[in-house]
Amino acid sequence: MRTTVGIIGAGPAGLLLARLLHNAGIDSVVLESRDRAYVERRQRAGILEQGTVDVLRGAGAGERMDREGLRHDGIELRFDRRRHRVDFPALTGGRSVMVYAQTEVCKDLIALQLEEGGPLLFETEALAVEGADTDRPRVRFRREGAEDVLECDYVVGCDGFWGVARSAVPDGRTFERTYPFSWLGILADVAPSHDELVYARHDRGFALLSMRSPSVSRLYLQVPADTDADSWSDEEIWDELERRFETDDDWSLRRGPITQKSVTPMRSYVHEPMRHGRLFLAGDAAHIVPPTGAKGLNLAVGDVVTFARALAHRTATGSDDLLDAYSATCLRRVWQAERFSYDMTTLLHTAPDATPFEGRLQLARLDRITSSRAAETDLAEAYTGFPIG
Ligand code: FAD
Ligand code: DHB
Repeated sequence: MRTTVGIIGAGPAGLLLARLLHNAGIDSVVLESRDRAYVERRQRAGILEQGTVDVLRGAGAGERMDREGLRHDGIELRFDRRRHRVDFPALTGGRSVMVYAQTEVCKDLIALQLEEGGPLLFETEALAVEGADTDRPRVRFRREGAEDVLECDYVVGCDGFWGVARSAVPDGRTFERTYPFSWLGILADVAPSHDELVYARHDRGFALLSMRSPSVSRLYLQVPADTDADSWSDEEIWDELERRFETDDDWSLRRGPITQKSVTPMRSYVHEPMRHGRLFLAGDAAHIVPPTGAKGLNLAVGDVVTFARALAHRTATGSDDLLDAYSATCLRRVWQAERFSYDMTTLLHTAPDATPFEGRLQLARLDRITSSRAAETDLAEAYTGFPIG
């Protein structure tokens, strides 16, 4: 098999890249190790930055998002039993975010790809990238029990944190931090208890109220690292959420049947550079952020937009300039997202060894954000997204 761009992985990064390349008249083949149902059901991100929304619309993948997605103009910060709303459009010159689940983004992009795009091969596992430093890189893969090779002009590793592409970038440097806590996430068939997201700091730990639709709530609880999701009963989860969201006014948490439970570890990770020869890394394959800032999917989108633009530029002009700048261009935005995600995480979580001094500092940081327009604007600008490119 032969193609211009071999794409490993059909998460948001790989699927959007295939769509952007198709729109630019560049052919690609996507290899995905899992089956379609698995990719379409994997519960993960929920928040799309303004720039991500604009990219999906521009790629012709925004129709259902515009119908079913929920535009959000702010978030609530909750601490010390107090509530403070951060008004995004007022602080950023009109920017907002969209609540539209990653599962739905993937479903929309898969449907478009199968209808109009190049091959998207599920249950096809990439085994290795070879010849990245030649002008004919190859992806060795296994499909239906047999090994085969995809010959390419370029390979883009969109295969997530556990993929194979990153190991084909020699002499890379990694920067990493793990956190001594995880998130226990639930989906519940109950209307969200608030019409915007609530990020709560509590001495017992962080809690987040989010949603998937007007009738489905998505909630997260900080739990110790290595927690088994089944060790928490549904009632214990609701009781703990209630404690952490407590306020002095009459706000209350609606309970409902929990339909899904899972635990996500928290990690910060960056691999530099994001390119070796004709192999490019994009999305979680190159970097991970703790989810507190809602940045992971949005970073993946920025990477593939940068790559698609660079390759279209090369096709139009013959110049490798933008491809050569790919890693540095992406990493600048990646590190801003790493910084913000780290700040949000340390602002809102209670580490197991946290001292009362650190608790007071968190409250002072929150007091600053909620009483200084400059500090609040800094948060609003970062949350609604850094420019791509
Ligand atoms: P992935 O989605 O991991 O996709 C990689 C794909 O490659 C997978 O389909 C995998 O099966 C496939 N693959 C792996 N190895 C191979 C192989 N060898 N061969 C072929 N295929 C392979 N981000 C946000 O922006 N906003 C949020 O609100 C947010 N919330 C989150 C909440 C949680 C609980 C979690 C876990 C994550 C959250 N994220 C959020 C992060 C976001 O989900 C990820 O950053 C995003 O999925 C990255 O997309 P990706 O395409 O790079 O990687
Ligand atoms: C969601 C996840 C996040 O990490 C976040 O910061 C906000 C919302 C969500 O899954 O809805």
